[in-house]
Amino acid sequence: MNSILFFRCVYLIFILACIFEVGYGKTVFNVMNYGAIANGNTDNSKVFEYVFNIACQSKGINLVLIPWGIYLLRPIVLNGPCNGLLEFVIIGTLKAPTDKVFSINVDNWITFQHIDGLIITGGGKLDGQGPSAWNENNCSKDPNCKTLPISLRFNFVNNASISYLHSINSKEAHVNIWGCEHMKLNHISIIAPKDSPNTDGIRIGSSSNIEILNSIIATGDDCVAMSPGSKDIIIQNVKCGPGHGISVGSLGRLPNENDVSGLWVTNCTFIGTQNGLRVKTWATPYSSNVFNLTFEDIIMDNVNNPIIIDQQYCPRANCQKGDSQVHIRDVKFRNITGTSSSKIAVAFDCSKSKPCENIELKNINRTYNGAGGPATSLCSDAKGIAIGQQQPPSCIYHSLQHLY
Ligand SMILES: *[C@@H]1O[C@H](CO)[C@@H](O)[C@H](O)[C@H]1NC(C)=O
Ligand SMILES: *[C@@H]1O[C@H](CO)[C@@H](O)[C@H](O)[C@H]1NC(C)=O
Ligand SMILES: *[C@@H]1O[C@H](CO)[C@@H](O)[C@H](O)[C@H]1NC(C)=O
Ligand SMILES: *[C@@H]1O[C@H](CO)[C@@H](O)[C@H](O)[C@H]1NC(C)=O
Ligand SMILES: *[C@@H]1O[C@H](CO)[C@@H](O)[C@H](O)[C@H]1NC(C)=O
Ligand SMILES: *[C@@H]1O[C@H](CO)[C@@H](O)[C@H](O)[C@H]1NC(C)=O
Repeated sequence: MNSILFFRCVYLIFILACIFEVGYGKTVFNVMNYGAIANGNTDNSKVFEYVFNIACQSKGINLVLIPWGIYLLRPIVLNGPCNGLLEFVIIGTLKAPTDKVFSINVDNWITFQHIDGLIITGGGKLDGQGPSAWNENNCSKDPNCKTLPISLRFNFVNNASISYLHSINSKEAHVNIWGCEHMKLNHISIIAPKDSPNTDGIRIGSSSNIEILNSIIATGDDCVAMSPGSKDIIIQNVKCGPGHGISVGSLGRLPNENDVSGLWVTNCTFIGTQNGLRVKTWATPYSSNVFNLTFEDIIMDNVNNPIIIDQQYCPRANCQKGDSQVHIRDVKFRNITGTSSSKIAVAFDCSKSKPCENIELKNINRTYNGAGGPATSLCSDAKGIAIGQQQPPSCIYHSLQHLY
């Protein structure tokens, strides 16, 4: 056999092996076999719902395949519980509609809910077509504004792995995780322009054991935002920017909010973000707790508020005035370096009646890249300890009884 033929054979066997591997032990449901039309103009939501339902009702491992092509998709809710494990392999691009009826009347585009055992992968793309709707967003003027659709919602989804997925130009947030447990998001890219309104990367609430790994998040709002009930969250090897940084909160806006605890942010980079690491609470009488947060090995370049605890968060005029009753404790900032685009590089504005406790600053090197002297810190009711290098000099109130 001549060598070219030989290599062709090896190649063919390789391809066949790959196809076999992907499908092995799994039942494959290719949306194209059920009438999907990948021309970018025909709505595929009925087909996707139908294919989801038959895959969801089957036992074993069921793979829904969305091959190469552009699929227009109106809002869909893919609702379990399912009888087996569900794998969504998105190779193509899913495109949201641009009409106003959709933007104004629903708050979701693609929702997965009540599913235990979900894999989404394939390297495909979700295009929220945000530019068609961003000018409808009047939330900066109207506190009771209607939110535009979030691209990808997970409600009550457990044991899920989301990987190799791109999300661009969501109308509102890109990904919302609510009531979920054991989810891993790995190799995700989330992109929207830096002036696009409320295009948060990933929002988490009432969820535990969520990992966000090896991802890029560049949007007009928070990189990752954690709301009440977020517990045991790991964010590792994530690049943020542009956007508003990694944020815990806002908390204390409503009564009876659940605590936020167990956050570990490590080996992350922030470039040109408005904030870096932020905890924000409203100054209301509503109490809850924030504890065991660790931020370590972080590089931030040209970040406006690199390290900030703001317990008088007030995004618009006429906020209630008083002391926040959200108690913040056991928060560690370790090995955080880079440049600050504002002079105050470390700001702890804590509550008078519920001071921040056990704040640890260890090896902080933040240089101010503007004119008018070096970076400074601001502390108000912040107790804890500063160890190692401190640039800017720490102003934390050392409270030895809290040493551990
Ligand atoms: C989901 O994870 C929980 C806890 O790890 C486990 O008990 C449960 O069996 C898992 N479900 C599936 C479908 O794997
Ligand atoms: C904001 O938009 C909604 C409808 O989209 C409208 O009802 C409301 O009056 C607007 N608010 C302001 C302050 O423009
Ligand atoms: C830190 O992140 C960089 C790039 O984002 C990656 O190459 C490196 O392996 C990561 N290191 C660790 C210890 O995770
Ligand atoms: C603190 O949070 C980390 C990261 O989520 C977790 O692994 C650890 O168990 C928590 N520690 C305590 C004492 O709860
Ligand atoms: C500090 O963090 C940077 C960036 O993640 C890392 O490269 C470096 O090794 C860390 N230094 C120490 C002493 O851990
Ligand atoms: C602190 O950071 C600046 C610039 O970011 C750098 O030039 C300087 O060497 C760093 N200092 C230490 C002690 O690491």
